[in-house]
Amino acid sequence: MINEMLGQNDIKELNIAFADKTPQELLRYCMKHFGARIALSSSLSIEDQTLTDMMLSISPKARIFTLDTGRLFPETYALIDKTNLYYGIKMEVFCPQTEALQDMVRTEGINLFYESLDKRHRCCQVRKLEPLSRAFKTLDAWVCGLRRSQSVTRGDVQLVEWDERHNVVKINPLIDWSEEQVWAYIREHRVPYNKLHDQGFPSIGCQPCTRAVKPGEDIRSGRWWWESPEHRECGLHRKD
Ligand code: ADX
Ligand code: SF4
Repeated sequence: MINEMLGQNDIKELNIAFADKTPQELLRYCMKHFGARIALSSSLSIEDQTLTDMMLSISPKARIFTLDTGRLFPETYALIDKTNLYYGIKMEVFCPQTEALQDMVRTEGINLFYESLDKRHRCCQVRKLEPLSRAFKTLDAWVCGLRRSQSVTRGDVQLVEWDERHNVVKINPLIDWSEEQVWAYIREHRVPYNKLHDQGFPSIGCQPCTRAVKPGEDIRSGRWWWESPEHRECGLHRKD
């Protein structure tokens, strides 16, 4: 067994069994299987808002958490609030540790990420990865909004996978969805979404590391735009 509840063979079988099923069918199965030890990790993206809507339709007790890096857009904070009110929930919020954050900012400056890849990774480590590791203490499985067509770094992502780095089962129900399918769901179900999407931001992360893109440009080209495309991940989804 790779964790107490699901073995490597089970993961293979799940990928086969749910390959032609809907995201809701996979979510229903996994939520029943993992109970309170599964949660959606939400960045408030259109994918995560879609999954929020799907999971809360399956159970009002569905767990949803977000990593508040302290550098999110005001529009993203507004959406956290709006989503909580709309669904009558309280999203779990994980914040960076004060000491580590203070130490980093004092020694490296507030905008260290523009200076080098190492410094950018340090910032993502302090503001995202360490808080994520605390979220994992209560989890056996995490649901993410990854889609294969999002980026060159996501082509080999599976529907269900064993996350070696974090020791949890990772579930990507929208893996084969197109951006158009996600928008169709958002519109049909009147799901609240980030207003920045109407202003040229297809992919939204931290404010200093995200900019608008021109129509037709790659959807993630506004994320860490000063780095080369193969580096444009924050480490949440790195496999090595
Ligand atoms: S990132 O690695 O470039 O930041 P992206 O924004 O595409 O990732 O989001 C991919 C998935 O990672 C989201 O669907 C979500 O599951 C998770 N994720 C990213 N950022 C956060 C965050 N701040 N809080 C919680 N989950 C996040
Ligand atoms: Fe820091 Fe930028 Fe990473 Fe956010 S995306 S944690 S601001 S380096």
